[in-house]
Amino acid sequence: MENSGHQLRCTGCARVIEQSELKENFRCAECGDLYEVVYPSWSAGMAEIRKPNASAMRWLWKERCCSNTEADQSGVWRFREMLHILRDEANIVSLREGNTPLYQLRKTAESTGIEQLFAKHQGMNPTGSFKDAGMTTALSVAHEIGFDWVACASTGNTSAAMAAYAARAGMRSLVLIPQGKIAWGKLSQAMDYGALTLQLRTDFDGCVRVLSEVVKRAPVYLLNSVNPYRLEGQKTPALEIAESFDWEVPDHLIVPGGNLANSSALGKAFLEMKHLGITAKLPKISVIQAEGANPLYSSLQENGGETLQAVEAHTRASAIRIGNPASWKKAVRVIQQTGGWCEQVSEAEIALAKAEIGAEGIGCEPASAVTLAGLKKLVQQGRVQSGERVVLLLTGHTLKDSDYTIAYHRGDLLKADEINGLRPEIEVTRRNAVELDASVDQVLRELEGAAVR
Ligand code: F0G
Repeated sequence: MENSGHQLRCTGCARVIEQSELKENFRCAECGDLYEVVYPSWSAGMAEIRKPNASAMRWLWKERCCSNTEADQSGVWRFREMLHILRDEANIVSLREGNTPLYQLRKTAESTGIEQLFAKHQGMNPTGSFKDAGMTTALSVAHEIGFDWVACASTGNTSAAMAAYAARAGMRSLVLIPQGKIAWGKLSQAMDYGALTLQLRTDFDGCVRVLSEVVKRAPVYLLNSVNPYRLEGQKTPALEIAESFDWEVPDHLIVPGGNLANSSALGKAFLEMKHLGITAKLPKISVIQAEGANPLYSSLQENGGETLQAVEAHTRASAIRIGNPASWKKAVRVIQQTGGWCEQVSEAEIALAKAEIGAEGIGCEPASAVTLAGLKKLVQQGRVQSGERVVLLLTGHTLKDSDYTIAYHRGDLLKADEINGLRPEIEVTRRNAVELDASVDQVLRELEGAAVR
């Protein structure tokens, strides 16, 4: 092995290759499927001594939180025994990502009947989304290999993260985004961090198609989540969650589903932790999609996840407006291996759930709120029981898409026929801003009115 100790295995035909054999589109030359990173020293048959020692690792990872080195202060790289992907740690490009908060959701616990309900807030990362955990790893690999340019197609968060990490490394970045279909906060980040930002007159899936040709013709390193090194970093929130519960995994983890890399990465982490004896059990991992962007949900309903029919995606949760998800086969496997489910939720259910998470003082972007909307459905269906410990994975910060939030509270977001039976709940959560004269009396009148509401 000429690298750090990892190889790549095709998730379709199981062919194993070295890093240097990876093609520029990260697809298997034999069957076209995606690769995953594997660590030969962890597999049965190799000397047990080469497997990381579980209790030593758990101690070391915690201990590193008190260290002053850049790698140890990163909530991704402090778990580096689980991600041997670099030859030289000096190539790490970090913004001190990870180590995100796990909040207990008290009000929502009451309304859902799930007493032990938590939110792992990946929106509290340096660029405001879960993408940073995977960007630090894959961009560090690009840096180590010696690329000058990195590129991605994005619904906004990947591009924000990529642009920031590329800038930190002194690299250039090319962003392809669907014109008019991403939140302003995310577009502004790509510009602020100095990316070459191209808005294509198409959707996300169209941007992916264009970029897959560009990477064949130009020396740019692809940082979409087909890149298996992204998923290695995106494993680490699972380690943090397990660590927060003293290495007892929760019963259920609920994740939004777009391109389906995140659910795949978290599943990989929990499977690896169990394999290495770091944890004893697997959580059920469930994936929630928006009704208008539900190719995985439809695939599982119609043919048990055997094939996937791409859809034309429509949802106001623009981060997950994806009709042809790249990692769908990996996600199907994770749902099946962990015993989780896939659900779909409506636009009104997403908007209400987002307002409820906001009312906890936490907030998140619309795509993250599908987790709470999905949990409510799983509870109704009896698939999540009141005594279980449940973690919602919140993927993006509330400030990413403030237009959505303001439209909701003004009552401009949803059309009447979308609200259906949810009008009373929605009305209770709306907090529109009130315009007044600069008058003490008017302010006091509003205050009195609000006190009795
Ligand atoms: N939540 C947010 C906030 C996202 O930005 C994304 C994906 C997802 C959930 C879905 O995660 O794709 O791993 O299933 N955003 C990508 C982007 C596609 O370009 O920023 P997934």
